[in-house]
Amino acid sequence: MTAVGVIRGTTSDRRVVIPLLRRLRSDEGQADPLPVWDELRALGDVVPAPWGGYFVTGFEACNQVLRGRNWLVPDFAWQERQPDPARWREPARREMTRTLSRLNPPEHTVQRRALGNLFDRGTLEELRPRIAAHVGRLLDRLATRLRDRGEADFVDTVGDRLPIHTVGQWLGIPDEHYPHILDFTHRQVHAQELVPTKSELAISAEATTEMRTFFTSLIAHRRADLGDDVLSDWIRYWDARYPLDRAAADQTLYDLTMFITIASLETTATLLTNAVWFLTQDPARADRLRRHPEEIDDAIDEVLRYDPPIHLNTRFAAADTVLGGVSVAKDTTVHVLYGAANHDPRRNPDPHVFDVHRKGGHLTFGGGLHYCLGSVLARLEARLLLTELLERFPTLRPAGSPTYANRMVFRRITSLKVTT
Ligand code: HEM
Repeated sequence: MTAVGVIRGTTSDRRVVIPLLRRLRSDEGQADPLPVWDELRALGDVVPAPWGGYFVTGFEACNQVLRGRNWLVPDFAWQERQPDPARWREPARREMTRTLSRLNPPEHTVQRRALGNLFDRGTLEELRPRIAAHVGRLLDRLATRLRDRGEADFVDTVGDRLPIHTVGQWLGIPDEHYPHILDFTHRQVHAQELVPTKSELAISAEATTEMRTFFTSLIAHRRADLGDDVLSDWIRYWDARYPLDRAAADQTLYDLTMFITIASLETTATLLTNAVWFLTQDPARADRLRRHPEEIDDAIDEVLRYDPPIHLNTRFAAADTVLGGVSVAKDTTVHVLYGAANHDPRRNPDPHVFDVHRKGGHLTFGGGLHYCLGSVLARLEARLLLTELLERFPTLRPAGSPTYANRMVFRRITSLKVTT
C-alpha cells in the first residue's frame, strides 16, 4: 500500500476521548460508528487513551503500527512488566494470551511456519463444494422461514451458521457440537474487550472452562483415531516436534485449534450479515450485482472496508519511538482503530459513501506478521453465499435495521430481520 498524507499529531487531553468511547459502545454508536470515528480522527492520528497509551486513528499511522517490526503484541512478558500484572492474570485473559495473536517472534514464527498457508488454492478448491452445499442448505432454511412467516432473522438462520459449518467440517467436528461452540464463543469474547467489567470476566471465565473441556476432548479423541484430516496432521506434527513432552504438544494443539475456530466465527458472521445489510438495502445495488456477479469480490471488499468485524487491535512499542510526531515510550500500548483508518479520507476519498467500485484500501484483516490467516476462507464463504442468495432471492431486503452487541473490539450483529 502506498503512503498517504502527512500523519497529524494529537490532543494532549487524556479525558477527551471518554465520552466518545462511551458513545462507541452504546446502541447509537454500534448502529452508526462513523461519526465517532470521524471525531476521534479529528483529534489527531495518535490520540491519548484515558488509561495511558494511545488510540491510532489515521490509515497511514495504523498501517505503520501493524507492519512495523518495532511494534509487538502484548504478550505474557509485557503483562508481567505492567504495574498491575494481576489485572492480566484472569483465566479468560491468560487463555487468549497463549494464542497465536498474542505471541511475538520467535514463538509466533514457529507456529505460523508450522501452519503454513492454511487455505492454499488446493485446500480452497476442496472446501468450495462443501461450503456451497452448506450455503444451499442454509438458504433452503431461509426460504422455508420466509414462506412460513413472511420474515426471517438472517443472523440466526444463515449468518451465524455458515462459518461454524465451514470451519467445523474442515476440522472434522461433528455438527451436534456447533450450537455449544457458538455459545461459548459469544461468551468468551468479553475477556478480549478493552475494559471488561468483573461480571463480564466471570462470564468469560466460565466459557473458557467449557471451551477448554471441549477442545481438549476433541484433540484426545482424534489422537486415538488419527485420520486424513487437518487436525490429525497437526497432531502428528506437534507430537513429532515434542517427542518427550506430550503436555507441550497438547497445549500447542489446544491453543491452535481453539483459536483458529473461534477466530473464524463472529468475524465471518459479521461480514456475511453486513454484506446482506449493505447490498440488499438498495434494490438497484443488489440487482446490478446479480447481473454482474464478477463484481461480487469488489462488493465484499467494500463491505469489509466500510464496517470491519474487528474494530480495534493492540500493539506496544518495543523501544522508544515516534508515531505521528508523538513520542511513544517503550512498552506503551497503542490501539489501532481499523474502522477509523478505513474511513480516513486521505486514503479513501468520500469514505462514508458505500461504493462497490471504489477499489479502496482497508486494514480489516490487519497487516504484517499477524495478518489474518483465514481472510481467503472468509472471502470464499461470502462469495458463495452472495452469489446464490442474490440469484435465489431477487427481492430479499432488510425488514429493519440490524441490532448489535455493545462491544468495542469484536463487532457482533445479533439480529437482522429480512423479508422478500
Ligand atoms: C471477515 C472475517 C475475518 C476478519 C475480519 C478477520 C480479521 C482478523 C484480524 C484483524 C486479525 C489480526 C491481524 C493483526 O493483528 O494484524 C486476524 C488474525 C487472525 N485470524 Fe482472522 N479474520 C477473519 C476471519 C478469519 C477466519 C475465517 C480464520 C480461520 C479460519 C481466521 C483466523 C485468524 C488467525 C489464526 C489469526 C491470527 C494470526 C496471527 O496472529 O498470526 N480469521 N483476523
